[in-house]
Amino acid sequence: MNQRTEEPVTVSVGLGERAYEILIGAGLLARAGAEIAARLPGARAAIVTDENVATLHLEPLQEGLGAAGIESTAITLPPGERSKSFDALEETVDGILGARLERRDVVIALGGGVMGDLAGFAAGIVRRGMNFVQVPTSLLAQVDSSVGGKTGINTRHGKNLVGVFHQPRLVIADTATLDTLPGRELRAGYAEVAKYGLIDRPDFFAWLEANWRDVFSGSAARTEAIARSCRAKAEIVERDERESGERALLNLGHTFGHALEAATGYDSARLVHGEGVAIGMVLAHRFSARMNLASPDDADRVEAHLREVGLPTRLEHISGALPGAEALLSYIAQDKKVSRGALTFILTHGVGRSFIAKDVPASQVLAFLRECQTK
Ligand code: GLY
Repeated sequence: MNQRTEEPVTVSVGLGERAYEILIGAGLLARAGAEIAARLPGARAAIVTDENVATLHLEPLQEGLGAAGIESTAITLPPGERSKSFDALEETVDGILGARLERRDVVIALGGGVMGDLAGFAAGIVRRGMNFVQVPTSLLAQVDSSVGGKTGINTRHGKNLVGVFHQPRLVIADTATLDTLPGRELRAGYAEVAKYGLIDRPDFFAWLEANWRDVFSGSAARTEAIARSCRAKAEIVERDERESGERALLNLGHTFGHALEAATGYDSARLVHGEGVAIGMVLAHRFSARMNLASPDDADRVEAHLREVGLPTRLEHISGALPGAEALLSYIAQDKKVSRGALTFILTHGVGRSFIAKDVPASQVLAFLRECQTK
């Protein structure tokens, strides 16, 4: 286990009475107990985690909680997307109530996005809303899913269709936990980091082009990249907490990406979420160029960077056969509301100049997908 410690960087999420801090730095797991005790004195805790993460990180978290006088119980579930289910939710709720936790106690999510979404949902509904703390251990969770209060589970009708907005009281991102992450997972999380540059921070994208190797090797550049990503997300969430408008920009690359995830049967051997987002962001830039909204040079630049870090960027980089353009479009239509043959997409005028495009003709998307598949 990596015992590095550094002074954490703090990013504030300014949401009035729901405001909270994101602490980012190496070695924070052991300090989590003290940080939680300082904000929620007298609380007891239920930690929701998965079997893999528990092996690596549960002990130091529980030790730190114990040292800060916080009694804790652990609810350990199978790893993977299957745990975002009604069954796993019931098990989690049972575990929290079985430990006789009250509203003033705390549910702690320890793990990646699946555990964060599940535990946050349970915290949001048990006793009409309990305190919740996120301790994300994947890059994707540290820069995206642990921030902003979206929680939920999947149903047979689709992903994330049942859930609540429930903001955490604190996010503790121990960057040393990323040292144990498989390279593929780190790269997939990096797609969401690059996303913030592509949405509205061209300087950040240029910084990533220059510094991505240091971000991957785990130096101070990694902490900086995570902090800049969290700041970017916090600013959007502060302006549009419940996604009535601008927050949709965070879905850059996700419309194409979700369709590819669905088309590959959510088979993580073929495609994980961040990889779908990487391909989706390149497609969003290429489609914008095809619609004469942006220069093809921007799409080339985005693709070159994502390729350089080792992410897939084209449909042909996905192993195995993909369904045809019509079927891909129907996955997109399932994911998005289609109104009279028009779709809403996040498109771009160039690197760092994304915007919400309503009324994108489905026929144009279909023609574009056909071109992508014949190239
Ligand atoms: N991951 C997108 C959002 O939080 O809105």
